[in-house]
Amino acid sequence: MKLFTSVHDVKSIKQFVKDALELKANPYAHQALGKNKTLGLVFMNPSLRTRLSTQKAALNLGMNVMVMNLDKEGWALETQDGVVMNGSTVEHIREAAAVMGQYCDILGLRSFPKLNNREEDYSEDFFNKFVKYCAVPVVSLESATRHPLQSFADIITIYETWTKKPDGTKPKVVLAWAPHVKALPQAVPNSFAEWMCKAKEEELIDFTIAHPAGYELAEQFITGATIEHNLDEALAGADYVYVKNWSSYKDYGKVLNYPDGWMMNNDKLKFTNDAKVMHCLPVRRDLELSSEILDGPNSLVIHEAGNRLWAAQAVIKAMLEELK
Ligand code: CP
Repeated sequence: MKLFTSVHDVKSIKQFVKDALELKANPYAHQALGKNKTLGLVFMNPSLRTRLSTQKAALNLGMNVMVMNLDKEGWALETQDGVVMNGSTVEHIREAAAVMGQYCDILGLRSFPKLNNREEDYSEDFFNKFVKYCAVPVVSLESATRHPLQSFADIITIYETWTKKPDGTKPKVVLAWAPHVKALPQAVPNSFAEWMCKAKEEELIDFTIAHPAGYELAEQFITGATIEHNLDEALAGADYVYVKNWSSYKDYGKVLNYPDGWMMNNDKLKFTNDAKVMHCLPVRRDLELSSEILDGPNSLVIHEAGNRLWAAQAVIKAMLEELK
């Protein structure tokens, strides 16, 4: 594997989940693979889980790790070509990425969208230029439009916690929009939907997305999903509810008005099949998701965050195996 930015970089979800669970059972089995190899983690935005889990994954594989908060510690970057750099930018991404590729065997990059210009964000210009100029394998630590390490950890969590039914019934997974006070990117729900639609294609799950009108995700991520605008109806018979806020894609980056009743709580849980509740974290308690759920037996959020480690380790291992 030379690039990990989406589910399209994965041949078989089922096999990749098995690879991750093998690493979970035996975390230090491949220490020789990463010996004298360096992972560089580059952050343009804050992180807790992604930063620590990816760092730990590389250490488990015997690698050295360097972390840089490029937005705060690096030179102000220019991304446009053909400009005279006589303003506030100090270094062009062409040189910055190329230099980081000299020091690292694999690089990870986190780069959120600005949520001002949809075409610009969805072009993934910054991320793609970084990949192009660094010339080493790159793992997405969340880009403008996707968060694949999160989605991979999410599907590992579902696979681990689902009890197979004698009649072969598949789990019903619901991605449920939730309220928030800020405009958040669509990267997590886009990515989750994309992985779930592929899992549905592989006949592993059933998948529904519930959101108020106006919060439709981009078509490219939701092929095959059932769309509901009534949360209670969407939750009927759900085995997993993935709670997440996102801002509007249509009215790009805006927080639109929505009807009451979109926070997931124990009353909503009654509509489900005693569903397990997931969230990528960080979560706003009692705004997106009730404390009673987060602190109760249905919450999978800590288990899910724990699986970020094995998702990252499986991806980095696949990249190390292809290094010359
Ligand atoms: N879920 C997630 O990516 O968490 P961080 O933003 O803390 O890395």
